[in-house]
Amino acid sequence: MSRARVAVLISGRGSNMMSLLEAAAAPDYPAEIVRVISNRPDAHGLVRAEAAGIATLAIDHKAYADRESFDAALDAALEEAQVDIVCLAGFMRLLTPGFTQKWRGRMINIHPALLPSFKGLHTHERALAEGVKIHGCTVHFVTPEMDVGPIIIQAAVPVLEGDTPDTLGARVLAQEHVIYPAALRLVTEGRARIVENRVAIDEFELAPPALVVPPAI
Ligand code: GAR
Repeated sequence: MSRARVAVLISGRGSNMMSLLEAAAAPDYPAEIVRVISNRPDAHGLVRAEAAGIATLAIDHKAYADRESFDAALDAALEEAQVDIVCLAGFMRLLTPGFTQKWRGRMINIHPALLPSFKGLHTHERALAEGVKIHGCTVHFVTPEMDVGPIIIQAAVPVLEGDTPDTLGARVLAQEHVIYPAALRLVTEGRARIVENRVAIDEFELAPPALVVPPAI
């Protein structure tokens, strides 16, 4: 089996990157992680990737005059590594329209909210402030507009009385680690097809029961 060559782009601790590395360690997983790239040379995720034996690269955005030249360096690194699919995993840089267009359909992102709600930053604080009862995370294809592209998979979690951004964020993060490897599998196997602005999933298994919060009993 020839496995898709994947690069993971990070800016920080890299827990989602680790979930992808762990999934890709299984012999039947259809993707291999060939590079971990960070725009921050001090990202802890780089240390974790190196410890796992993955080739890493820091491309410090501060060394580039503008977004175009940074994205050109990133693109060159991806081409050099013969990357098929790019996974953004806590990569906290806006990408230029030219870069996102080039990698359209081959670049996915994880976001810590149920899009299209709570785009951008501080999603758990904002979810609590709005009083939503169900929160979650989303993996989607990347398009030029931030946190907008076709949705591949989402996971929902309950918001509990007394939750803080940290407790809610931890509950969401645990689900991020489940759905990101699942989304990458769907994309790699060609089972997540973009149809206009949505994603059609081939061979959809039985849907799980609804999450109702508080339980309707
Ligand atoms: C994750 O929660 C991810 O969803 C979020 O940053 C965190 C990175 O954690 N991404 C965004 O907010 C992107 N808009 P990690 O480095 O441990 O994977």
